[in-house]
Amino acid sequence: MNRKYRKTIIAGNWKMNMLPSQVKPFADELKAVSPRAKWCETVICAPFVDLPAAIKAFKELRISVGAENLNENEKGAYTGEVAANMLVDLGVKYVIIGHSERRQYYGETDFSVNKKVHAALEAGLQPIVCVGESLEEREMGITLERINLQVKAALSGVSAEKMRRVVIAYEPIWAIGTGRTATAEQAGEVCGAIRGVIRDLYGARIARAVTIQYGGSMNDKNAAELLAQPDIDGGLIGGASLVPAKFAAIIAAANQE
Ligand code: PGA
Repeated sequence: MNRKYRKTIIAGNWKMNMLPSQVKPFADELKAVSPRAKWCETVICAPFVDLPAAIKAFKELRISVGAENLNENEKGAYTGEVAANMLVDLGVKYVIIGHSERRQYYGETDFSVNKKVHAALEAGLQPIVCVGESLEEREMGITLERINLQVKAALSGVSAEKMRRVVIAYEPIWAIGTGRTATAEQAGEVCGAIRGVIRDLYGARIARAVTIQYGGSMNDKNAAELLAQPDIDGGLIGGASLVPAKFAAIIAAANQE
């Protein structure tokens, strides 16, 4: 973290877990164990149907709410899809874009990720753009090339002004939901490289201010070490964000004096 130059963001990614009726009890439990987040912004990204309940329940806790996906079109005949301005109308602030599960199971590509980033920014949302290499890519030694490509593609055509609202999440695919975390050094190295790509594209000032999260089996035990890396400005947390005590411990790690 580097609180002088950029915001630390701890974001939960509930994925396809948590019923709408479970949101309020979760918020109550989190409130009971949660420390006051002085130094970081806390976000919960939830399934679409949970969003109204989440906005209501988390308001008092000053936790922002995010969606896990959106459609890249503004409106129209796209049965079953959700547009960016619908999320904004509800009071949603963030949206995860290009999570590896969406790339893997729903055919999302660097190209569609870029379109969704534009749709989110146009509507006033803050995209959390996910990038990450597979285990094969890491073993072949092409991690940084892969990440470089994903970041450049996702941000293609994004103005410097809009870039101020973009959050990047580095999530090595082999670390997601596997219990296998990247070491703090591995994660810090890639997050530093991402900042380097942003520096090349937008200059040093914007690069210094962009929030870059790590995601992939981040939990109450390893959060402090990961967050101690200068280029890791928070976390995108799956499994551990479903357990109030664990999520609260990660928020606490981000708020250490
Ligand atoms: P995990 O998920 O923390 O359960 O590994 C992270 C993510 O996919 O965002």
